[in-house]
Amino acid sequence: MHNDEIGYPKEHLFLHLIKKGEFRKIVEIGVASGHLTRRILSSVDKITVYYAVDPWKVYIEFYDREPHEHEKQQSYWDSMYEKVVKIGEDFSQLQIMRMTSVSAAKELIKKKDREGLNAKLTRDEIEKRILARVRVKVMDFQKDTNPDVRRHVQADVIAEFYRDVVIPLTKEGEIQYLMQKKIG
Ligand SMILES: C[S@@+](CC[C@H](N)C(=O)[O-])C[C@H]1O[C@@H](n2cnc3c(N)ncnc32)[C@H](O)[C@@H]1O
Repeated sequence: MHNDEIGYPKEHLFLHLIKKGEFRKIVEIGVASGHLTRRILSSVDKITVYYAVDPWKVYIEFYDREPHEHEKQQSYWDSMYEKVVKIGEDFSQLQIMRMTSVSAAKELIKKKDREGLNAKLTRDEIEKRILARVRVKVMDFQKDTNPDVRRHVQADVIAEFYRDVVIPLTKEGEIQYLMQKKIG
């Protein structure tokens, strides 16, 4: 949505549309100080992610009028950006994208591709089998050690390490490879 076109009743209109459409993911393009952002986030609790997109930068070419003096100062944009960062302290769903809408669109498409690839690379059954095998191997390697002399490694600790680190990193490597193949 680009909210400049509609004028001030926009707040009510957007709130109405978001609630009626039961939208969970929002992208706001052109956030400024985040007035609308805070209003929406505090009124709709079902939102799971809210992307706030704005370069917060002096861009004379954005204007169809002569910009005011303060709009030409980067400090003015930085202070608005800081206000939006503060909103993020109250709402964990907020993801700030300090860039133009065109760059944000590219980023979100990449993100969507990554999520799609991750889902395709995930086989719950196989991951469960790998973890079970890891547990067996950990026990097996230690079967001849004397627990009075050596401390035994718990199979669950190693399995968790596989689940939380080794498997995700392996998939991340595959995703990076596939993404650069797709883009490059
Ligand atoms: C009128 S303000 C937005 C007001 C805000 N949505 C509100 O309701 O409080 C316009 C904002 O759009 C941003 N903007 C202009 N062109 C943009 C673009 N291509 N991508 C993202 N933001 C843009 C400007 O930096 C500015 O902060």
